[in-house]
Amino acid sequence: MENDPPPFARIIEEELIDYRIRSRFYHPDYVKGLGLSGTERVLEFGSGGGCMSRVLAHTLSSVGFLSCVEISPYWIEKARQRLKIFTNIEYLQGDITRMTIHENRYDAVIVHFVLHDVEPTARIDVVSALAKCLRPEGTLFIREPAKPGHGMPLSEIRALMRDAGLREIHTGCTKSWQRTWICEGTFKKSW
Ligand SMILES: C[S@@+](CC[C@H](N)C(=O)[O-])C[C@H]1O[C@@H](n2cnc3c(N)ncnc32)[C@H](O)[C@@H]1O
Repeated sequence: MENDPPPFARIIEEELIDYRIRSRFYHPDYVKGLGLSGTERVLEFGSGGGCMSRVLAHTLSSVGFLSCVEISPYWIEKARQRLKIFTNIEYLQGDITRMTIHENRYDAVIVHFVLHDVEPTARIDVVSALAKCLRPEGTLFIREPAKPGHGMPLSEIRALMRDAGLREIHTGCTKSWQRTWICEGTFKKSW
C-alpha cells in the first residue's frame, strides 16, 4: 500500500492530473467501451480518490450499484467526499484479501491501474478474492500499465486470471495518450 496519508506530491498529482484530466477526458471513453447497460452491480477494486468511480457512478442508473474497495483510509474518504451526490455508491475500506465481501454478488469487477502496485506474490490472492465476488458469468475488466519497472506484462495478467478460474474473452495492448503501453483484458467467471 502507498503511505497513508500519501505524500503531498502524490496528492497534488492526483488532484491535478488524475481527477481533473484523466477522469474527465480519458476514463469516460474506457467505460463506454465496457458495454455496461447501467443496471449492473459493480465492484471497483482499488478505487483510490474516485477518479474512475465518478465515471462508473454516472454510467450506472438508479438500479445499478457501485462498491468502491480501497485499502487507504485517506483515499476512500477523499472519494466519499467527492462523490457524495451519488446515492448508489458504497465505500468499503480494507484489503480485499482480508475482507468479507458477498460471494457471487457482482455482475462486474473493474481493476483499473491497481494490480501492478500489488506485490507480485500477493497478486494471485487478490485476483482469487475478486473472482469469488463475481456472480457466475460475471465479468472482470482489467487495465494496467505494461511498463517494465512500473507495470506488468499481459502474459502475467492472463496467467493470474487463468489460475483464478476466469476465462479469457479479450486481451490486448494499446498506446496511451502519454505514449506508454497499456494492457487491457476482459475475463468471465464460469463457475
Ligand atoms: C493508482 S490507484 C488507482 C485508482 C483508480 N482505480 C483509478 O484508476 O482512478 C491504485 C489504488 O489501489 C489501492 N490498493 C492497492 N492495493 C490494494 C488492496 N489490496 N486492496 C484495496 N485497495 C488497494 C491503492 O491504495 C490505490 O489507491
